[in-house]
Parts: sequence; structure tokens; C-alpha cells
Amino acid sequence: MADLLLDRTDQVLTITFNRVDKKNSFTAAMYAEMADALTAAQADDSARVVVFQGHETIFSSGNDIADFLKTPPLSPDMPVFRFLRAVSSFTKPLVAAVCGPAVGIGTTLLFHCDLVYAGDNAAFSMPFVNLGLCPEAASSLLAPQRMGYGRAAEALLLGDPFMAEAALEMGLVARIVPPAEVNALAQRQAQKLASKPMSSLLQTKRFMKMGQAEAVTQRLGDEGVVFGRMLGEPAAREAFAAFMEKRLPDFSKI
Ligand code: COA
Repeated sequence: MADLLLDRTDQVLTITFNRVDKKNSFTAAMYAEMADALTAAQADDSARVVVFQGHETIFSSGNDIADFLKTPPLSPDMPVFRFLRAVSSFTKPLVAAVCGPAVGIGTTLLFHCDLVYAGDNAAFSMPFVNLGLCPEAASSLLAPQRMGYGRAAEALLLGDPFMAEAALEMGLVARIVPPAEVNALAQRQAQKLASKPMSSLLQTKRFMKMGQAEAVTQRLGDEGVVFGRMLGEPAAREAFAAFMEKRLPDFSKI
């Protein structure tokens, strides 16, 4: 079974994460396919809206740690960075349906989505600090903006998770529904968006994002350089080894 399912219904492209046995963690191949799909959708006038969705029990556990160790993203042309540039510069509406854990890029991706619908089981986390890493996807810029500095500090400095209700309150999520209803709601809203005049959607999103596009691009690049460097440092090596060996990391000597 493919790790990603791409479905085109009318003018809506749906990208379904379909690697549930590995908690929908993203491999380099998945990032490459998503980057290509977004680039194609951006250029295709008949594609008006993109939906990201996972499974009722898991949105995504973030980067595939084993894959990351095998092919660390050390240069800007690596698939993860291509994906992040494609998603952050996508000019058409992006919708996400989130159930269960959304870890790392599973959460930071949502800062670039326009409409996020969550199941009441959704749990968001950005545990980069627990992995000896720094934020990615411009989340060091966007999390404080969206969540307020205090809550962003809890999420990014402590790596604390936050639940659907908190995400709703801070405006990251537009609505919470039972997990079994999330994907259907996202599809309905995407079809509703696709029925609007495209020029109005494009201009509205452009104005809503205006003023920060350059800052986002800059932060993506800056974070990417440091993230790549930190992947090879002792803290990340210990965190990843601990994950693979199913034990707690020991940072006491790092
Ligand atoms: N990378 C690689 N494999 C992962 C993964 C990841 N990010 N997340 C989960 N998996 C794998 C596990 O190793 C396990 O594989 P196995 O069956 O071969 O042992 C399988 O997926 C199931 O994961 P498990 O941890 O047993 O599921 P859970 O329901 O107990 O917990 C999570 C789910 C998402 C809370 C937990 O898997 C987790 O915290 N994952 C890591 C998240 C992370 O740190 N991501 C990196 C962000 S940069």
C-alpha cells in the first residue's frame, strides 16, 4: 500500500497520509512526492484547494526518525525543505483534517494551512528540544505569533503537547468535531472553497499573509541550516538512538 494517497475529486486535491503502522511518519520519499504534488497543484488552474488528512487515530508522528538518520536533510534541495517551501508559498487554500497525535512537522505544517479541523482526540506537539533539535517550518516565528509567546514557549522550549481545545482557543484550529467526522468536514469545506471565485480566494489569502511571506522564507532557511547542523550533534544523536532503542534519552552529560 502506498504511504501517500493522492486523490483528485473535482477541483480538490486530497493528500492522505497512509503509513499508519509507522504512525504516519514522513520519509524523504513522502516529502518528495508531497512537494511535487503541491508544485503541480500550484501550476494547475483546475486544482483549487488541497486537503491534508491522516487517519482517525493519527495525523502524523513527524519526520521518520530512522529515515532521517539514513539521509539527514543537510542541503536546501533535500525533499523536506522542498516540501516546506512548497507548502509555505502555496497561494491556494490549504485545508487540514487532524485526528490523534500531530508531532513535529505534523503540527508545524498546520501553521501554513488556512482551515484546520480537528478531532477531539487531536494532540499537537513540537518536541524539537527533546530531540536535541531546533524548530523547523518557520515555527519559531509562527508559533509565537499564533499562540502568544508564553504558550509557544511551553510548546517549543518544554516540548509540551497541547490538545484540540487549546488549539481551538488560540485559533490554530477552526472547529473540533468527533474524529469520525473530521475528514468529511474538511472535504465539505474544501468543496465549498472550490466553489468560490478563484481570484477572490487568491487575493484574500495573499492579503491575509501579506507582510510576512519574506520573513517566513528567511526563517525557514535560517532554521534549516541550524536544524541540519544539530542533527549531527551529540544531543540529537542520543535522542534518536534512544528512540530507536525504545528507551529514555540521557542528556545528563550533553
Ligand atoms: N519515526 C519513525 N518511526 C516511528 C515514528 C517516527 N517519527 N513514530 C512512530 N514510529 C514507529 C515506532 O517506532 C513503532 O514502530 P515498530 O512497530 O516497528 O516498533 C510504530 O511506529 C508505532 O509507534 P509507537 O511509538 O509504538 O506508537 P504509540 O501509539 O505508542 O505512540 C506516538 C505514537 C506518535 C506518540 C509515538 O510514536 C511518538 O512519539 N513518535 C515519535 C515522534 C517524534 O519524536 N517525531 C519526530 C519529530 S521531529
